[in-house]
Amino acid sequence: MKFTDLTFALLAPGLAAQQMIRFGCSQLVIARMDPLVNPGLAQSPHVHQIVGGNSFNISMDPATHDLVRDSTCTSCTFAEDFSNYWTAVLYFRARNGTYKRVRQFPNVGLRTDGGVTVYYIPPYDGKTRVTAFKPGFRMLVGDAGLRSSQGMQKQLCHRCLGATYDQGGAPCTGTDSKELPNRFCEGGIRTTITFPTCWDGKNTDSPDHKSHVAYPKVGSFETTGTCPDSHPVRLPQLMYEVMWDTAEFNDKELWPEDGSQPFVWSTGDPLGYSQHGDYVFGWKGDSLQRALDARCGNAVCKELRTQTSEEAMKCTLPQNIPEDVDGWLKAIPGMEPMA
Ligand SMILES: *[C@@H]1O[C@H](CO)[C@@H](O)[C@H](O)[C@H]1NC(C)=O
Ligand SMILES: *[C@@H]1O[C@H](CO)[C@@H](O)[C@H](O)[C@H]1NC(C)=O
Repeated sequence: MKFTDLTFALLAPGLAAQQMIRFGCSQLVIARMDPLVNPGLAQSPHVHQIVGGNSFNISMDPATHDLVRDSTCTSCTFAEDFSNYWTAVLYFRARNGTYKRVRQFPNVGLRTDGGVTVYYIPPYDGKTRVTAFKPGFRMLVGDAGLRSSQGMQKQLCHRCLGATYDQGGAPCTGTDSKELPNRFCEGGIRTTITFPTCWDGKNTDSPDHKSHVAYPKVGSFETTGTCPDSHPVRLPQLMYEVMWDTAEFNDKELWPEDGSQPFVWSTGDPLGYSQHGDYVFGWKGDSLQRALDARCGNAVCKELRTQTSEEAMKCTLPQNIPEDVDGWLKAIPGMEPMA
């Protein structure tokens, strides 16, 4: 599949193709670290996969921590992006009750070691200007404690991929589900996490890490829908895609005999509602604003310095507290063994 096909595939039918910044970020570390929701806590309640700048640590006090100054490398394509992006991790639960971490595979057209595909999407109309995030900006979508679809934020979903990743359509349309798919997905499972696009223009964070941003009054994916009066500043739409290599577990002999599906989020959630994504902005100077203004597409942007996939993969961090997160494990790290 070519990038142009992919761009089309992302859009709802009827909308013209548009330029969007899309790039790969390789794995920095998989660990129980969460400087946004549990700052300073040596081990967060559940495991995350973290990508981006290597100044990442458990505290990241916005008053003193400068991601650009304190990072010496980034695991992302653009060398000026020292932001951190993180999500929960998926586990497979075997019939004998032990867990194995589900690996990620590289997204279409990208070369990464695990990690996340990151998008910064401007409005479809090709002219509405967006304002890049400010230093210290951070936000969260989703809720690690959710165990039902009630109260779930928009635009968090799972796509059951066919053998040729052939399903088009914007994220969270078609057969995409809030739940983890209850069937074999030949091409693995893709999860999508899409952030709000309206900002209050003042606060770089809020106590729940959510209320300083909002979704447009109307519009689902990135449309030119009007922002609420309380949040008038239009942001680029940040989106994460994660490709989970669940296919290696597609075997009737491995799946539960009771007809349920075997995958569990690192939050201990076997349903899917606890999917979440965290963001701490860390682009150098005005590099992101320049790239957005230039309407850069995919990972090609003359406004930005790119590094090779090999260089990006070399940027890693040790776990702050070493523990086995891969398995086979008697329990998901931080969780009680499940009955
Ligand atoms: C986190 O990184 C900052 C900046 O490098 C440093 O000042 C701080 O001590 C680090 N905190 C921890 C807990 O490692
Ligand atoms: C549990 O099941 C998995 C998957 O079949 C297997 O690889 C693993 O060795 C088993 N572990 C034990 C302790 O039996």
